[in-house]
Amino acid sequence: MILREYKNILDAEFMKGFIRMANDGWELGWHERNGGNLSYRIKPEEVEQVRGYFSPKEWREIGTSVPKLAKEFFLVTGSGKFFRNVSIKPEDSLCIIELDDKGENYRIVWGLVNGGKPTSELPSHLMNHEVKMLATGGAHRVIYHAHTTNVIALTFVLPLEDKVFTRELWEMATECPVVFPEGIGVVPWMVPGGRDIAVATSRLMEKYNVAIWAHHGMFASGEDFDLTFGLMHTVEKSAEILVKMLSMQPNKRQTITTQDFRDLAKDFNVNLPEEFLE
Ligand code: 13P
Ligand code: ZN
Repeated sequence: MILREYKNILDAEFMKGFIRMANDGWELGWHERNGGNLSYRIKPEEVEQVRGYFSPKEWREIGTSVPKLAKEFFLVTGSGKFFRNVSIKPEDSLCIIELDDKGENYRIVWGLVNGGKPTSELPSHLMNHEVKMLATGGAHRVIYHAHTTNVIALTFVLPLEDKVFTRELWEMATECPVVFPEGIGVVPWMVPGGRDIAVATSRLMEKYNVAIWAHHGMFASGEDFDLTFGLMHTVEKSAEILVKMLSMQPNKRQTITTQDFRDLAKDFNVNLPEEFLE
């Protein structure tokens, strides 16, 4: 007998957390039309709680290879689906996918009831998941891509360098170096939706939890919905302050200094890489 732990699959806690996060991103204006996508690596016990609702479709190629994620299940937004609609019709907007034993193919086991496929950024999501799972001993489970207005604006005026973005965004809010002490990576403009941009992004994710896509948006990785959303929100808020500052005058009259960052790192017990303090 297949157990259905929930009366409705939408009552599962991970489903509620995912939907709330998608809606929060929509309300902050990061998801025009079908912009952005979200994925969650489902815990084995959560898979068992909802397995009774699965009806597997045909296997399809991922478009890249993620062997360390073989047989994992993910909750993912659908390609062309609007974040605006996720909370009102989740079964049309989202799907649960299962990966095969090589990590080269996926199949939809729930959702997208009116047809469709997972986000076109599935290669980037899965390659980021693989890198972050290995780097965090399995702790990271959420990968989030959003079209964050202020960060995108900054990619037209700042040099596309990790060091410049990290340092400028750290300086805009005292909490930033505590929230993203490892810094931020920047991917130059690339064609989205394919393996090349996925490879470039996942390389940066070995080191960082945030990667900016020039003239496009951001990717963030985290342990759960709160931390991943909070990370995206913190970086974008900092970018908003920088845009406001640059709109008032090009130069800072005063700022947080390198010594200030060293003092903060000591008191908050965070390790700030020397390359961003020079
Ligand atoms: P999808 O609708 O395929 O998820 O694409 C949206 C997007 O933001 C592409 O980068
Ligand atoms: Zn995008």
